Amino acid sequence: MEVTRAQPINSLNDLIQELHNVFESECINVDYVHDIMASYKSNPSEWKKFAKFDRYRYTRNLIDEGNGKFNLMLLCWGPSQTSTIHDHADAHCFMKMLSGSLQEVRFDWPKDYRPETQNEPSEMLEIDRNVLKLNDVCYINDSLGLHRVENASHSEGAVSLHLYCPPFNCCSMFDERTGKRTKCPVTFWSKFGQKLEVNKPKCSS
Ligand code: SIN
Repeated sequence: MEVTRAQPINSLNDLIQELHNVFESECINVDYVHDIMASYKSNPSEWKKFAKFDRYRYTRNLIDEGNGKFNLMLLCWGPSQTSTIHDHADAHCFMKMLSGSLQEVRFDWPKDYRPETQNEPSEMLEIDRNVLKLNDVCYINDSLGLHRVENASHSEGAVSLHLYCPPFNCCSMFDERTGKRTKCPVTFWSKFGQKLEVNKPKCSS
């Protein structure tokens, strides 16, 4: 769909401002959000204050709460760090590379595996694989499947910008071998550039 950009996106602040404008509306134009995320050209001096790495796992660092409509965050991936296979709790997920490269592996939803009814566990089916390079943007929602994000480099870190709309605190993760689903909280390593205390939230169901 052809969309006209209201403002040029020359900085991270321009992007955040335009995202606020877009998400004032109840109706989300996925192509337009994709387009403005792609228009922003990564400038590390604008986002490095949010980029906090941990040696053991990738970190999620909140940049903007989007007036409750969306969360914009920086994810920092050390060498070889990966996410689990997960869903997006019925939210839109846009992901843009700011530094380095990441691999996105997509999976079909598993047949519902219930240990109590002793359904046969079955390995999850990979349906797609994409390598994201500097400034690339990808989009997923639950109707398109599940994904795992991997930093395939054993020596280089990577940084990605993620937008989730609406924001969510819990999602499901999946065991690749069995398809078993587990609810898990999603947490932040830092908010607005400040490291958070370790917290252990729970999912309500
Ligand atoms: C995450 O948000 O923790 C994983 C990355 C993603 O879903 O895109």
